[in-house]
Amino acid sequence: MVEIRDPNELTAREKTAISERCLKSNMALYVFPANRSEWELRRSLRTLGATFGLNTLEDHRSAEADGIVRIEVVQSGGRLGYIPYSDRPISWHTDGYYNFESAAHYIGAMLLHCVRSADEGGDNRLLDPEIAYIRLRDLDPGHIDALMHPAAMRIPANFEDNGQVRAENVGPVFFVDPTTGTLGMRYTARKRNIAWRDDEQTRRAVSALEHILETDPLVLRLRLQPGQGLICNNVLHDRSAFAASNEGGRLLFRVRYRGRIGSNAT
Ligand SMILES: [Fe+2]
Repeated sequence: MVEIRDPNELTAREKTAISERCLKSNMALYVFPANRSEWELRRSLRTLGATFGLNTLEDHRSAEADGIVRIEVVQSGGRLGYIPYSDRPISWHTDGYYNFESAAHYIGAMLLHCVRSADEGGDNRLLDPEIAYIRLRDLDPGHIDALMHPAAMRIPANFEDNGQVRAENVGPVFFVDPTTGTLGMRYTARKRNIAWRDDEQTRRAVSALEHILETDPLVLRLRLQPGQGLICNNVLHDRSAFAASNEGGRLLFRVRYRGRIGSNAT
């Protein structure tokens, strides 16, 4: 956990501490003083991302004008019916897995900041995709071949009452970002509305990955507290179910970016 005094103006030491963690583990946890207005906080989160070269925000259907999405339980509106905006658990995934365009155009980084935590639950597990890759390769290099196949994972089109909102999305699980030469990952553990490549090697690879996510000693588990956040190269993560708290309920802000931490990719 890197302590930040002022997210609008990081000291050289704070910046180095976050950069080093991201270089080593693709993620950093930070905390800064929580007593600021929502407007001020949202501006600070944008500034914090930009400090690490994250400037290209995802155009998300639930984002507000500044590109930030409120992750909270909703009872109405456009976010209703989607699991992130409920108190239900979310299985392992990387963000934007249903929105992959190419190895050069995908969600490469993400910022998750806690404003209010739940009284119970709402924990996240985190795993660096590079660890998942190494484990799989050590088990069987064939797992990597299967998961790097350009049609390894297919997400069918998503329809809503008002028509189609998202086209079918097909792509690999692991890929190499040509801009940075780093490993990218696109994954979801969900069982519904997903079609894996229909082949024995793929089935074995997916099952091995599921096992790694449930057992690996390098999986980090935490409950973000108010003022704490995660800045990362879109690492694997999940969320446990949570119980509503009395004062306003759990609230996180999420920002997704194209490009990775420290790169200036657009
Ligand atoms: Fe997520």
